[in-house]
Amino acid sequence: MKPVALSLAIASALALSLLTASAEDKKLDASKLPPASDKKEVTYAADIKPMLEKSCFKCHGAEKQKSKLRLDSLDAVIKGGDNGPDIVAGKVDKSPLVFAVAHVGDDEEEFMPPAKSKDTPKLTAAQIGLIRAWVEQGAK
Ligand code: HEC
Repeated sequence: MKPVALSLAIASALALSLLTASAEDKKLDASKLPPASDKKEVTYAADIKPMLEKSCFKCHGAEKQKSKLRLDSLDAVIKGGDNGPDIVAGKVDKSPLVFAVAHVGDDEEEFMPPAKSKDTPKLTAAQIGLIRAWVEQGAK
């Protein structure tokens, strides 16, 4: 191999390993979450929207859209915000929103609602279990 080709090969191998490493970091560990609720047929309209309304709409609703995320309709939740989808139907380990509300992860900045927002109720383990069940059941 010519030196130029060789260094290109090394550079791309390096870039690839960096990419793989960051993809692995993003893998979320669902075993750290509260257990899923055993409620059947959990839906956004009946179960999820009322709790998000109390804890999230202030910053992710009609008035403000932090991180360009709205949580006040099912379509908007599925679409996600600046960082792409925050929930993936059926896949809790690909759904950072569930980890954000459970305060599970390395980055406290991502915990929701943010700690500094003192007048916004944090979700209880039971509520997080309901969100988890909703995602696992297909986020309808
Ligand atoms: C007081 C304001 C506030 C409240 C209340 C709040 N958030 Fe946030 N949210 C933010 C801010 C600010 C960011 C951007 C954080 C960052 O980029 O580090 C954010 C980002 C997010 C993100 C990442 C979005 C993306 O794709 O980039 C998710 C998911 C999220 N919030 C979910 C929620 C949920 C669920 C609730 C309710 C339980 C909630 N938030 C309540 C302010 C809030």
